[in-house]
Amino acid sequence: MHYDLLIKNGLIVTPNKTFKGDIAITSGIIAQIEFASCNGVYENTADLIYDAEGKHILPGIIDAHVHFRDPGLTEKEDFESGSIAAAMGGITMVADMPNVIPVTSSVQRFNEKIEIARRKSYIDFALFALLTDENLKETEDLKNAGALGFKVFFGTSTGDVACPSLPILLEQMQKCKEIGMRIGFHCETSELNSYLTTAFKQATDAKIAYNNAGLWLTDARPVFSETLAIQTVICYAKYTGAKIHIHHITSSDGTVLVSEAKQKGIDISSETCPHYLFFDAEKYTHKVYPPIRDEKNRLALWEAINKKVIDIIASDHAPHTAKEKSLPIWDAPAGLCGTETLVSLFLNEVNKGKLSINDFVRLASENPAKIWGIYPQKGNIEPGADADITIVDLKKKTIIKAENLHSKSKTSPYDGMEVQGVPVATIVRGNFVMKDGELTGEKGYGVLVSPN
Ligand code: DOR
Ligand code: ZN
Repeated sequence: MHYDLLIKNGLIVTPNKTFKGDIAITSGIIAQIEFASCNGVYENTADLIYDAEGKHILPGIIDAHVHFRDPGLTEKEDFESGSIAAAMGGITMVADMPNVIPVTSSVQRFNEKIEIARRKSYIDFALFALLTDENLKETEDLKNAGALGFKVFFGTSTGDVACPSLPILLEQMQKCKEIGMRIGFHCETSELNSYLTTAFKQATDAKIAYNNAGLWLTDARPVFSETLAIQTVICYAKYTGAKIHIHHITSSDGTVLVSEAKQKGIDISSETCPHYLFFDAEKYTHKVYPPIRDEKNRLALWEAINKKVIDIIASDHAPHTAKEKSLPIWDAPAGLCGTETLVSLFLNEVNKGKLSINDFVRLASENPAKIWGIYPQKGNIEPGADADITIVDLKKKTIIKAENLHSKSKTSPYDGMEVQGVPVATIVRGNFVMKDGELTGEKGYGVLVSPN
């Protein structure tokens, strides 16, 4: 048997165990995994041998929520720069959002976007399609075109993408139930947000009352705006039986609603992002929607991760130009860069004992793959799976510097932070896309990943 690549002596990490072993890869697929060292059995039959002594070998980390801004907003990012940033950060696959220009809401636009990503992406990619008031007739065709899932912006954000009206949403969800597609929701209530935000902007006194703009933001788009939307979506899921996913949960109340819905047997999954886990609004002002909350909510999110109420960690990488981000708080667009720093940030937490490395691969590899229907091809370090592998050095330290990141937008809320734990290789279908901090892949290598 001839193997293309042999990764030797590393500590292989699954959601359930960590063990020393060797991985043999052929034609982009994991061919065999051997416990402990295989004493040279493979040496003569592999083209390339990578010695991973002292490193951890993770199933390829999936960033299931990114905005690569292609097409239409490419001054902020495009599929090339975004996928390079992801690959440099140890990500083997991303799922990209549809709030681009034009929005990804028809089969034609979906196919155009596949072409863009196919030409530019260094890593594998999946694409969400948007549900709108207008595209009910295309829902099934979008599935057949290869959409990973659907996205609904219950709260508006970049692109001012409208939420379907409640009656059409009902029909859309009935359709999704019928065709077995999961819908991901941005849960905020737009009407409330615009009303409160306008009121806050006008209240000049607020500037005095709130000398912290972070608290200002969270009151202008409050937790109850999020929970009201989550409640509505859960009601719809209960009534229609459709599978739902709550993107970027920010609050304790939000996690309680998800937990109750899970207990009632609703097919619901949920996600949070690093900024909600690492920052609190009292100390930091990073403008993102939904906003970063206070310390109590932040700690509740960690608890929800431990209790498996939150299933996925994703970056919600949403770049804007440095110039846009430097505008005054109300004028600046919302969204933070994060795909390149995601893995390091959580390895740092693994080193601090906040979660195990096995938990991390469950949250950022296995669960995203299972929830979005691409398991066992992705999110899985077993024979027969795609050879997507993230190799990390848990001992290595680095200081995150925004200027060194590979996004078009050299902005990061983590600028200056020291982390211990660094991705040292990103392997996509058996190919090194990043090795030792150097980009070794090629654009156009990534392929579309669709549910099984
Ligand atoms: O802050 C945000 N920015 N939240 C979102 O949901 C969208 C994102 C964007 O696309 O800029
Ligand atoms: Zn997003």
